[in-house]
Amino acid sequence: QAGDKDVPVERVLEMPDDLAETPRHPRIPLPAALFGARRNSEGLEYGSDAALRPMAEAMRAAPEAPEVRTVDAAGAESAMERAARAFPAWRDTVVGARATALRRAADLLEEERPLLMATLAREAGKTIDDGVAEVREAVDFLRYYADEAETLCQPRLLPGPTGEANQWRANGRGVFVTISPWNFPLAIFLGQTAAALVAGNAVVAKPAPQTPRIAAQAVDILHRAGVPRDALILAPGGVDVGQALTASPHLAGVAFTGSTATAKAINRALGERDGPILPLIAETGGVNAMIVDATALPEQVTRDVVASAFRSAGQRCSACRILFVQEDVADRMIEMIEGAAATLRMGDPIDPAVDVGPIIDAEALERLRAHVADHTPIWQGEAPDGLFMPPTIIELGRDERLTKEVFGPVLHVKRWKAGEVDAVLDEIESTGFGLTFGLHSRIDATIAHVTARAPAGNVYVNRNQIGAIVGSQPFGGRGMSGTGPKAGGPLYLQRFVEEVVISTDT
Ligand code: NAD
Ligand code: ALA
Repeated sequence: QAGDKDVPVERVLEMPDDLAETPRHPRIPLPAALFGARRNSEGLEYGSDAALRPMAEAMRAAPEAPEVRTVDAAGAESAMERAARAFPAWRDTVVGARATALRRAADLLEEERPLLMATLAREAGKTIDDGVAEVREAVDFLRYYADEAETLCQPRLLPGPTGEANQWRANGRGVFVTISPWNFPLAIFLGQTAAALVAGNAVVAKPAPQTPRIAAQAVDILHRAGVPRDALILAPGGVDVGQALTASPHLAGVAFTGSTATAKAINRALGERDGPILPLIAETGGVNAMIVDATALPEQVTRDVVASAFRSAGQRCSACRILFVQEDVADRMIEMIEGAAATLRMGDPIDPAVDVGPIIDAEALERLRAHVADHTPIWQGEAPDGLFMPPTIIELGRDERLTKEVFGPVLHVKRWKAGEVDAVLDEIESTGFGLTFGLHSRIDATIAHVTARAPAGNVYVNRNQIGAIVGSQPFGGRGMSGTGPKAGGPLYLQRFVEEVVISTDT
C-alpha cells in the first residue's frame, strides 16, 4: 500500500458526515443524512464505497497499535491494591470533574477515530461500517453516563419532619472490576469502565484476551482525558486474570459482559467469597428469535434478517439466530434471504467494498463448522480462504429446537402455521434466554399481543434487531441473557453506587 501513507489523517477528521451515521445520544447533532439529504458535500452517497474510501486510506496509514503485555495473577492483585489506594481520592473528586473527564475522552475518541478503527479492524476484524458504529457507541456511552452521573451523584438535602439536616449521597463503592468480550472491544469495554468510573469507583479493567490493543488505546484516552492512572488500571489477560481479579480482597463489584457460562462461573466465585455480598452486573448471550407472519413485507424482512443474522459475521450478542416464518410465505421468504445474503462481500475489513469481515479466531470458526456439520444446511454462501465463515441457513424440523447460542453467521429457520403464535412464543421462552427479539407483522392485534408477552429485553417491530442506541434503546436481556440493568439506560449507574444518608442534629 505504497501510496496510502500520503493520505493525511486530517482529511478524514474534517468530514465525519461522509459516513452514514444513526442518531445516537440526543445531545449529538443528527447528521444531514437523516433529514433526507442522501449525498455529502462532494456529491457522494452517504456510506457508499466512494464516500468511505478516505477513511479506509486513513485506517491503512494508521500505525499498528503497540503490543500489550499480559499480567499474571500476582500482577492482577497488585493492580487491585493500587486501585484500592487511589479509590478514596477519586470517590471524593466532585462528580462534575469525573464527568468532564468522560466528555474529554469522548472528544478524543472522535478525533482519533481512524486510528481506533484501524485497531478494531486489525485486531477484531471490524469492517468500516462496524468500526464507525462502534466508535459512535463508545462516544455515546461516555457522554450519556457523564450526564446521568451528574444527576445521580449530586448530594441531596432531603426534606423531612425530623428537625435534622438529612443529606443523601450516592458514592462509589470501591474497586470495580470490568470484564469484557472481544466482539465489542471498544464500546462495551469503555461503556462498563466509564460507568464505574464516573460513579466514583476505581476500576481494574480486564479486556478479552483477543483484543488487548484497542483496550489499551481506550485506557490511554481516559488517562489523557484526566482519569488518574491508578484510578483506572488495565489488566490484560485471560481466564486466570479474571479469576484472580474476582477473588481479590479489594473487590467491590463486577461489571461483566460475555457468555452465560462465564457469568455463572463469576457468580459462583463471588458467592463463595467471605465478607460482603458484592454486586454483579452480567450481560450475556441469547438465542435471539424473529417471528415473521404472512402479512409482513418480504423486502423489509429480507433486509432486516440479512442485517440481523449475517452482518458483523453474526458476531453480535443481539444477532438473529432463529427465524420463525409462517409456512404460507416461508419458501418465498427463504429464497429472498438467500439471494440477498449471497450478495454480501466478505474479505479484508478495511476494504470499503467489504460487508462482512472474518471470524474472531480459528477456535470460534471450528465451533461454527462443527455445528453446521451436525446439521444439513439448506443454503450456504461462499467465503474466501482464511478465517471466514460463509452465511449459512439451517432449517429445523417441527420437533427440533435451538437451545444454545451459535455465535456466527448461521441462521436457523423454522416454519409455523397460522394460529400458532403462542406456541412459537412458548418455544422462544423455553430456551431461558431473552436478549433480543424481532417481529414482522402488519396486523396491529398481533403486534400488541406479541409485544405484550415481550419474550426478550429488547423487542424490535418491523425492523432489524441489532444496533441498540445508547440513551434511546437501553440494551440488555433477562433470564440467562443478563441480570440488568440495561446498558445505556437510566438505571445502569445505580448499581455502581452505594447510598449513604447523613442525618445531623441542627
Ligand atoms: P467469554 O465469556 O468467553 O469471555 C468474556 C470475558 O470473560 C473475557 O474477558 C474472558 O477472558 C473473561 N473470563 C472468562 N472466564 C472467566 C472467569 N472464570 N472469571 C473471570 N473472567 C473470565 O465471552 P466472549 O467469547 O469473549 O464473548 C462472546 C459472548 O459475549 C457471547 O456469548 C455474546 O452473546 C456475549 N455478549 C453479550 C453482550 C450483551 O450485551 N448481552 C454483548 C456482547 C457480547
Ligand atoms: N448493543 C449491541 C447491539 O444492539 C450489542 O447490537
